[in-house]
Amino acid sequence: MMKQQMVLVLDFGGANRELVARQVRDLGVYSEIRPSRFSVEKIKELAPIGIILTGDAGNCDPEIRKLGIPVTDKHDDLQNFVMGECKARGDYDVDSYLEQKVAEIRQAVGSQRVLLALSGGVDSSVCASLLVKAIPGQINAIFVDHGFMRHGEPEAIAKAFEGQDINFVSIDAESRFLAKVAGVTDPEQKRKIIGHEFIAVFEEEAKKLGDIPFFAQGTIYPDIVESGGDYGNLVKSHHNVGGLPEKLGFEKVIEPLAGLFKDEVRKLGAKLGLPEAIVNRQPFPGPGLAVRVIGDLTKQKLDTLRAADHIVTGEIEANVKPVPQQYFCVLTNTPSVGIKNHTRIYDPVIAVRAINTQDFMTATYCPIPHEVLAKIANRIVAEVDGVSRVVYDITSKPPGTVEWE
Ligand code: XMP
Repeated sequence: MMKQQMVLVLDFGGANRELVARQVRDLGVYSEIRPSRFSVEKIKELAPIGIILTGDAGNCDPEIRKLGIPVTDKHDDLQNFVMGECKARGDYDVDSYLEQKVAEIRQAVGSQRVLLALSGGVDSSVCASLLVKAIPGQINAIFVDHGFMRHGEPEAIAKAFEGQDINFVSIDAESRFLAKVAGVTDPEQKRKIIGHEFIAVFEEEAKKLGDIPFFAQGTIYPDIVESGGDYGNLVKSHHNVGGLPEKLGFEKVIEPLAGLFKDEVRKLGAKLGLPEAIVNRQPFPGPGLAVRVIGDLTKQKLDTLRAADHIVTGEIEANVKPVPQQYFCVLTNTPSVGIKNHTRIYDPVIAVRAINTQDFMTATYCPIPHEVLAKIANRIVAEVDGVSRVVYDITSKPPGTVEWE
């Protein structure tokens, strides 16, 4: 395997480090971001073929420019810099990434076992498939179903993974989670309780499997960059992103997707043969529908929300092109009067939310055609019990967050 070429993006603040790194990848060249404090010695170790300075690089160490590696602080003609001045081969793509990670994982893990927390999200699913390719039969994947998943989701995840060589175990923990959050109305409190319970369930299940030295998780490149530090290696002795590995006392953590941006993770997933429904899944919060039922949670409220959400998802996917980056609904705790089957009802309002966004840091509401919204509203009030009315959320982020809680 030919050594992978790399362009270093040295980050002096500002907002465009990821954009620049992403543009370099689009030229077929691997890129990595490092903070401006990164030493000349460490740069030498990384041996990049070129260095791009982002942000206010006025106080860049002059020694960096004397390394004999091309350096630029201009971003208007990256193609010329990377392919011309740095003489890049342009042979990086997800295939070469996959090949390299498979080799690295085999080398690091040997014949030992790896534990994986599989949430069914894009990242952990692609991580599972990559591990299967590298070390089939040496993986134990645990999926904790907290009962806050969407319609048909636990079944779809089980179907996608049961046949694979990952010793897949699905834990139905719905009643346990519901008991823990009963009566809790504060959103942060809900998140905390769910997070703790998740670790508790996972820990119990992991114990049953005995001692497993490695823990794998689907951390992706933006998570690594945003978590600070010196930005990631494949195997780390201490972990600072997730929370689960430290709590479980893991020392060896594998993050095979830690070099990839989200769109590359999706590409890799497709390449590894994951179903489209998983590869193109929209983001879904860890605490799931629990943060989309405003106020206290009951099984009945969750079922109501799940049924309404299924209608919203189906109608948007069938009728809005391109589909928004995220679309869902929220069960509010505001009741309103309505009439169903000639009878007065006083049931909660459902709010539909659909957003367009590049990075989820800012977002605008998606201007869904009125006839689609009308169909969604008609179907929800007709088909879902316990809903009186449907409204559409047209708030941008900021000031409105994507989620309501
Ligand atoms: P907000 O509501 O912060 O959402 O504007 C931005 C993006 O993050 C997702 N989100 C979460 N993801 N755990 C997660 O894993 C959470 O607690 C959580 N809260 C929000 C949200 O769905 C959106 O994509």
